[in-house]
Amino acid sequence: MTDFLPFAESLARSAGEVLRQGIGRAEQVRSKSAAIDLVTEYDHKSEEVILRAIRESFPGHAILAEESGASPGDEYCWLVDPLDGTTNFAHAIPFFSVSIALLHHGRLLTGVVNDPMRDELFSAQAGQGASLNGRSIEVSDTAELDISLLVTGFPYDIWTAQENNLDHFAAFSLRTQGVRRLGSAALDLAYVAAGRLDGFWELKLNPWDVAAGALLVQEAGGRVTNVHGGLDFLSDTSILAANPALHHLMLQILQG
Ligand code: IPD
Ligand code: CA
Ligand code: CA
Repeated sequence: MTDFLPFAESLARSAGEVLRQGIGRAEQVRSKSAAIDLVTEYDHKSEEVILRAIRESFPGHAILAEESGASPGDEYCWLVDPLDGTTNFAHAIPFFSVSIALLHHGRLLTGVVNDPMRDELFSAQAGQGASLNGRSIEVSDTAELDISLLVTGFPYDIWTAQENNLDHFAAFSLRTQGVRRLGSAALDLAYVAAGRLDGFWELKLNPWDVAAGALLVQEAGGRVTNVHGGLDFLSDTSILAANPALHHLMLQILQG
């Protein structure tokens, strides 16, 4: 089977460079699904760079990209988040990423998450482990909640929806060293894969937010499910990722 990882890494680097040069320069900041769901011209510029390269190199592959939607194709499907962390980017906060994953017959094959502001490229290939700038990474071995540092995020319908994650945020805040809200789900997962954070959960995400980061966590020795423990986190929208021991403890809290 073709090794798609170098291609995905090069795409994430090129798109990351577009974003690195654009931070603080966004002139068109608009709302999408909700007033707080933002998009800038750089989301589109980054996506164009990625999609053009995929279509040139692999014209038969399917694509699901956040800003332009689904394009049908063969058994390979690219999941593209051209700018994960748009709210940070729009406020010139240098914490955002490019997230690119490749599915083969619906299974995660390749995942890359690039943080262009720190020059950190997280990569994973199914069955071959996960790395950060070429060096192998592993999830933490923190096995107790009270010494864990977690991360989460909140849905764009938080102003109006009952299922807003504030209940879980409160529950974990009272039992852990802390819960971070960093603003890029793909980097949240990459940090769990690298052992910087011990666990991540979030509701109402899309496949392009989590696909690459989930493979990173799995290949770094972690466990990834939806918040009910099911394995269909790509279609379910909720996700729970942590080292195996902590995953079990977090699942108990999430299930109340
Ligand atoms: C968002 C980020 C954020 C998460 C949101 C996502 P976007 O992605 O990953 O951390 O809390 O739910 O939608 O909109 O910046 O690509
Ligand atoms: Ca996203
Ligand atoms: Ca995005």
